[in-house]
Amino acid sequence: MDSAKERVFIFDTTLRDGEQSPGASMNPDEKLRIARQLEKMGVDIIEAGFPVASDGDFASVRQIAMEIRGCQIAALARADKTDIDRAWEAVTEAAAPRIHTFISSSDIHLKYQLRKSRAEVLKEACAAVAHACGYTRNVEFSPMDATRSDRDYLCEMVEAVIAAGATTVNIPDTVGYAIPEEFGELIATLYAKVKNIRQAVISVHCHNDLGLATANALTAIKHGARQVECTINGIGERAGNSAMEEVVMALKTRKDLFGLETGIKTEYIHQTSRLLTQITGIPVQPNKAIVGANAFAHESGIHQDGLIKEKTTYEIMTPQSVGISETHFVLGKHSGRHAIAERLREMGYNLSEEELNRVFFHFKELADVKKEVFDEDLEAIVYEEISRGEEKYRFLYLNVVSGNATVPTATMQMEVDGEMVQEAGFGVGPVDAIFAAIRKITKTNHPLLKYAVNAVTGGTDAQGEATVQLKFNGRSAVGRGAHPDVLVASAKAYINALNRLEWLSKDARMVTTT
Ligand code: KIV
Ligand code: ZN
Repeated sequence: MDSAKERVFIFDTTLRDGEQSPGASMNPDEKLRIARQLEKMGVDIIEAGFPVASDGDFASVRQIAMEIRGCQIAALARADKTDIDRAWEAVTEAAAPRIHTFISSSDIHLKYQLRKSRAEVLKEACAAVAHACGYTRNVEFSPMDATRSDRDYLCEMVEAVIAAGATTVNIPDTVGYAIPEEFGELIATLYAKVKNIRQAVISVHCHNDLGLATANALTAIKHGARQVECTINGIGERAGNSAMEEVVMALKTRKDLFGLETGIKTEYIHQTSRLLTQITGIPVQPNKAIVGANAFAHESGIHQDGLIKEKTTYEIMTPQSVGISETHFVLGKHSGRHAIAERLREMGYNLSEEELNRVFFHFKELADVKKEVFDEDLEAIVYEEISRGEEKYRFLYLNVVSGNATVPTATMQMEVDGEMVQEAGFGVGPVDAIFAAIRKITKTNHPLLKYAVNAVTGGTDAQGEATVQLKFNGRSAVGRGAHPDVLVASAKAYINALNRLEWLSKDARMVTTT
């Protein structure tokens, strides 16, 4: 194996496959913020989106391609000239653009979805790669549903697309069906049977339907794969994709076994995970490997005893190696603008002067009622002040009367397209009444998929963080709001979800992938 192959390339698809998680849609500013963070952490390739899917996706990929200079920027395209032209148009200004084109290779997809023969699909795959190569040498091809495809046909397709010019061939386990041993054998078979395989980097893209996405990706690496497609926190279609932090930390922690490097600066993992959670509102389960709240928490007395004596007794990697610091930073009402700016920078937020002013003003308001302001509070403020995009609806005022001897009533004032509107709503409880008032004001009635409230930090003076997921026209949006008063937080979250749905409905999606 030559030395160039001692590196595993990290292809991050948080902004494309990750964005396909229900409710995970991000606005262009949010996507750019994630892209900057991925660049900072050393990702090799960012898949920025699927430009033909919508005008919004196109614009966002283009913006990322123009701004991010330290990573290759990939755009997804079906094996179709129009798609590929649009993808190229979106990434053409990138420092290192890549076109990623795909078509299904399994008989199930050919028969029921594409309604084409193997010969036809093979021809289209090669034509697509050749067309993309007319624009750039950096072309990736994916035979979708590879793991359920006939092996000989898959080998034939991989060989043909490499001959047509593909420099990366990605083997997707599209429906998360593969078992590690079997997936490793598939990669080994490709290496054994495809004559020109060493002219391309072999990549894998694993879905997590059976909870095996990371295991499959690692087994593929053992058998020669040198690019892994993954997402932060493992978000993605259905059960998600291989989690970048898991793949990277497994390679790092078990270097003895793999002997391979990635370019990821692992100390940014925690920060990046938090940023994505903040932006999408999709929480990380507490026991999630590497980035879950409990990933480094030792509860058992025997374990704690061992750790005090020698850390390596129960710790296979340090919290510091993934960016979790031992000291908790606390700010308060005497903290100045400079201290806030510095802390935000350390947390990964590089704000403009104007953004910092808004965050600082909000911080002061919070610090007046809350003695200690933690990182989590600052993150919630940044989300409130910066991550909003266009706002059709704005929260102005809320008064709630509630209790067991009255009809819960909410009086609300909001701005709708710049006009002040006021209404009262009744409900079985205060939150029900608030949502009724908002529905009246906005003349909407979208199904509520989820409503939850969490404390941002500990303590009874903690800010409440509310999450609301609404559905409209087959798409859903997650809104969040934070405030020391959980009822205000709930109202803000509902309004935020409505604004996000507004934005989504303006960016009509023409196509989706898996
Ligand atoms: O899961 C899949 O097959 C995909 C392809 C577009 C690579 O996301
Ligand atoms: Zn996928």
